[in-house]
Amino acid sequence: MAMYASFIHAVASLLLCVLAFGLSVMGRPTTFLQDFKVTWADYHIKQIDGGRAIQLILDQNSGCGFASKSQYLFGRVSMKIKLVPGDSAGTVTAFYMNSNTDSVRDELDFEFLGNRTGQPYTVQTNIYAHGKGDREQRVNLWFDPAADFHTYTILWNHHHIVFYVDDVPIRVYKNNEAKGIPFPKFQPMGVYSTLWEADDWATRGGLEKIDWSKAPFFAYYKDFDIEGCPVPGPTTCASNPRNWWEGTTYQALNALELRKYRWVRINHMIYDYCTDKSRYPVTPPECFAGI
Ligand SMILES: *[C@@H]1O[C@H](CO)[C@@H](O)[C@H](O)[C@H]1NC(C)=O
Repeated sequence: MAMYASFIHAVASLLLCVLAFGLSVMGRPTTFLQDFKVTWADYHIKQIDGGRAIQLILDQNSGCGFASKSQYLFGRVSMKIKLVPGDSAGTVTAFYMNSNTDSVRDELDFEFLGNRTGQPYTVQTNIYAHGKGDREQRVNLWFDPAADFHTYTILWNHHHIVFYVDDVPIRVYKNNEAKGIPFPKFQPMGVYSTLWEADDWATRGGLEKIDWSKAPFFAYYKDFDIEGCPVPGPTTCASNPRNWWEGTTYQALNALELRKYRWVRINHMIYDYCTDKSRYPVTPPECFAGI
């Protein structure tokens, strides 16, 4: 009986392997509607290029938003975004993953805070693990993110969570459960994006107001790519060490990525909750845990 079970298991794993390989060569990226649906103000999201790209619109009537149809447990999500150009102060474009569970929320946030013409965009990242957030970091982008598309990626595996801007890791949150630090790993997360007005806090802490005479504001997205374990889906998927995003090259930054990560932190980081003594007289433990 045991042998029979292990034989079935072997065949099932082989099938899963073939299936996973098949999926990975299916020719991603996909169209918007394959993986996503509009969740807020569908008249403000326009499909372009045969549905391979979209335009988000913000005006005085409304912002807009979209979400993935599935949730995922571990994986890598990326998309190319061209942010609101010119005077974008007070606008916020967000790209995030969220477990959508109120009390014990897990969430991984990219928030792009607009600015006055010629002033740098700020990227704020935040991480909620088991219901606790308040882990904001901010970097000013070293290029104009409204002049062209750039790739924004969240990698989430059993070893760490990494936020990438193109090929530059701007943030790493290591799995330090062994040191008692919470790490999101029990709840699947959906992928979300919104464009909205937040001039009460976004730009220079709310000092710079949105200039509606410049509206409507547009942001563009394309090359949607979600690779992960969909939930509901095969229950063994998330714990399968053969998922490519769990592979050795994705378990820690390589030497080149480490250099880029240090470069960002030294040259472009403008806020880190880890060093905010007025907010955290006692430095949170994950801040010492290294990467
Ligand atoms: C906007 O530009 C100002 C001045 O360069 C800078 O201090 C700030 O960090 C920028 N970003 C935001 C979101 O305010």
